Amino acid sequence: MFVVGGSASQLLSKELAKCLKAKLAKVEIKRFPDDECYVRVEDDIEGEDVFLVQTAWPDKNIVELFLLQDAIRECEVSSLTTVCPYFGYARQDKQFKPGEPISARAIARLVQMQTDEFITVDIHAPSVIDWFDNVSAKNVHAYPSIGRHLKGKGVELILSPDEGRADNAKRVADVVGCEADFLVKERFDGETVEMTPKKLGVEGRKVAIVDDIISTGGTIAKAAEQLRKQGASKIFAVCTHGVFAKGGLDKLRPVCDDICSTDTIENPTTCITVAPEIARIVQD
Ligand code: R5P
Repeated sequence: MFVVGGSASQLLSKELAKCLKAKLAKVEIKRFPDDECYVRVEDDIEGEDVFLVQTAWPDKNIVELFLLQDAIRECEVSSLTTVCPYFGYARQDKQFKPGEPISARAIARLVQMQTDEFITVDIHAPSVIDWFDNVSAKNVHAYPSIGRHLKGKGVELILSPDEGRADNAKRVADVVGCEADFLVKERFDGETVEMTPKKLGVEGRKVAIVDDIISTGGTIAKAAEQLRKQGASKIFAVCTHGVFAKGGLDKLRPVCDDICSTDTIENPTTCITVAPEIARIVQD
């Protein structure tokens, strides 16, 4: 069994290889002068079960993913499981206006063309999994890993930024062994979010806000502002996918005491691996 790691998912590939007791394949990945991507699998993986790990975001990593799939197929492997720990474009899971694409479906159709199985982590819209209609596709949750990370840090309350993700906060809280609650968020556009004030009883308490994605950081910043006003003693911001678009991390550093994300997107706050959760679903 081999794990092939794309350039966007080097940390996770190593962790997954350890968890699966698989070999980490040697792969050459480089860019031509015009920025086109070149990949080559250097190990002999013919007849092997192969796990390709590559986050499908941003666009250049998606192209690299397709090239790696093709290279692996050319090696005549026994099976190929494509693991996209972060599946970009999942927020455009429907036509909001006439003339738009269903972007998540477009990417899903292409990814499934060259794989036997597909695994992703905390996909933004779970319905996107249904677009994988030719292969087995699974969505793994990072929340057990996030819960294990927060356990022992004295966190007394886990909050989701909106009611829609309250179940996820509850799952994390169950692992930590504390309470869960949710905030009330309204989104006006990609960068504008408002939080309706809600009495949370957080004075002097350590609180963690847990979300699937931190993108611009607008959601977490508004949540942290409210928690600070109510006297929270320490604010943790934790997400599965740390996108940190448009200086999102700089926005959050002054308002949160601790910012942490998983290795679905490698970034300066990555401190949790989702490899055990992926390995568990593979071995089930
Ligand atoms: C929204 O539904 C997601 O769960 C996140 O709350 C959102 O993507 C965060 O975006 P931002 O960091 O830009 O507020």
